[in-house]
Amino acid sequence: MADKDFQNAIAARYDAPMYRAMLEVWSDQIHPGLFENDDDTLYDASVRATRRLAELAAIDAGSNVLETACGVGGTARFLAGDLGCTVTATNISRGQLETASDLTEGKPGADRIGYEFANFEELPFSDESFDAYWCQDALLYSIARDSALAEAARVVKPGGAAAISDLTIVGTPQGEAAELMERITKAGFWSLDQYAAAFETAGFEVTATEDWSHHLLRSFRLILHDMIDKRDTLAAIAGDEETDTTIARYHQWCAGCETGHLGWGAVVGRKKKG
Ligand SMILES: C[S@@+](CC[C@H](N)C(=O)[O-])C[C@H]1O[C@@H](n2cnc3c(N)ncnc32)[C@H](O)[C@@H]1O
Repeated sequence: MADKDFQNAIAARYDAPMYRAMLEVWSDQIHPGLFENDDDTLYDASVRATRRLAELAAIDAGSNVLETACGVGGTARFLAGDLGCTVTATNISRGQLETASDLTEGKPGADRIGYEFANFEELPFSDESFDAYWCQDALLYSIARDSALAEAARVVKPGGAAAISDLTIVGTPQGEAAELMERITKAGFWSLDQYAAAFETAGFEVTATEDWSHHLLRSFRLILHDMIDKRDTLAAIAGDEETDTTIARYHQWCAGCETGHLGWGAVVGRKKKG
């Protein structure tokens, strides 16, 4: 599949009614979570992951942040509302961008958030125009991750931050585990080390990596069980077929974690000067 066809398929998936149905499960943070307590909800844990990534990147009030792959704007509202940043939040899903704008109206920091269509592999922004680059759990959808990170390095000012979290491959799966990992994504996964090396190649000095893999299965199991509990509500929004296909996909994500080869982690860096 050509890169553009793959991207169009991903955009179509996030534009389809299923993304609205999934708000019932994910709420507005569409990524796994960092769990600290037995009674943490997925939402508590996924907000904690966002907060942790911001801490690692030392993003603070006044930072002008480019967020790529912004989902429905949960992180943009956190960065603008809780941290006081100015955020340009971008996505290739027009449906999610519309929902993001609706959810942002009247919220703290709303006047510091702008939503725009942008493909993270070809950013429509000038060189060195942002203090920080942010991409949470979306580079897994890129067949050209090096290009996406080169774009990140181009638009960030020297000394500026880049922060990503993403699903990763852990070790070298063999046999059935390898086949399962290939079925899970056509784009293939990178290891945390590959992300860190690609940061350096793109022009960032890596300042932190964190392996969050041990939180992943709990996240996916919570989502899967919640989807099964809410199946009729989801199907009323997205239809039976889409709902059951999505439930099957989450069974696969869980199975990937159970092999020990599907992981999750964060990489943060600073753009090298000169
Ligand atoms: C798992 S969701 C994560 C959303 C958001 N970052 C969050 O954590 O709440 C993946 C997002 O990646 C976006 N995406 C996928 N490919 C993209 C691309 N080439 N350019 C920009 N966004 C992309 C999807 O539209 C979707 O919003």
